[in-house]
Amino acid sequence: MLDRYTYQSALAASEVIHWRVEDIIGGEKRLDFTRPFMPETLARVEELEFLDREEKLILNQIRGNAYLCIFGLVEEFILPFVLDHARSQLSGDDYRVRALLQFAGEEAKHIQLFKRFRQEFEEGFGSHCEVIGPPAAIANAILAHDPLGVAITTLHIEWMVQRHYIDSVKDDQQLDPQFKSLLKHHWLEEVQHAKLDTLMVEALAAGRNEEQIMNGVEEYLAIGGFIDGGLKQQVEFDLDSLERATGRELKERQREEFRRRQLQANRWTYLGTGMTHDRVLATLESLLPSARQKVAGIAAAFC
Ligand SMILES: [Fe+2]
Ligand SMILES: [Fe+2]
Repeated sequence: MLDRYTYQSALAASEVIHWRVEDIIGGEKRLDFTRPFMPETLARVEELEFLDREEKLILNQIRGNAYLCIFGLVEEFILPFVLDHARSQLSGDDYRVRALLQFAGEEAKHIQLFKRFRQEFEEGFGSHCEVIGPPAAIANAILAHDPLGVAITTLHIEWMVQRHYIDSVKDDQQLDPQFKSLLKHHWLEEVQHAKLDTLMVEALAAGRNEEQIMNGVEEYLAIGGFIDGGLKQQVEFDLDSLERATGRELKERQREEFRRRQLQANRWTYLGTGMTHDRVLATLESLLPSARQKVAGIAAAFC
């Protein structure tokens, strides 16, 4: 049974959280490039035995940079999507309007935070790391799908953020404290977003018959396929970034192993952790039991 989320309680929870971009990055708050940025459960650099300790650390940081950049990317489609959803009903429920506008405002702040981080990363890391994009093209491709599919994707992303932080980041004492603080502050606001996403999915599914609901779920899976294509490209970029940063040219056999293992690590990070999340599956079940079965059946490929 799902908790009942409300616009009023989500708004109240978000109003007590106050942080500004300047509070968590810039000035004295610098990234520590002697420490990892990503938890190993997501980075999976230890499996690459042909890399030494220093090279594994560099790859971990490359993955950390891509992680925040990819969140910056997806939040560029979430922002207009939430604004459009709010705009469709500006009178009647004041808490709904305020909670959704607060949500959009926080995502705009996160986008700015991630851009600011990227600038700092580029300055401190020492060489360029390419990331998929451009954000506007990716946002347009995702927003062209059925709104229910887009809303389920948003739900997936925001529960995934919860899972990453709680299960892997919160208690990891090895991580750079600055990067960890950034993930923590992001997570604090994402808690409310995931609840509001649940309400958005329910609203967009209301009045649909089974076939129309299933269409939304198929569109969610199509967006997942699109993201998966982006991850394949990102793995190539990360391979280039690693070779550039270390000055080491990997052998073809090592490159193949890098691609295979890092693609699966990326799939788990961005797809598997969302598709297997209890709350995502529970919301799908509440729409249609076969929707849950379908997604849960496909998820194994991304774990
Ligand atoms: Fe966010
Ligand atoms: Fe969010």
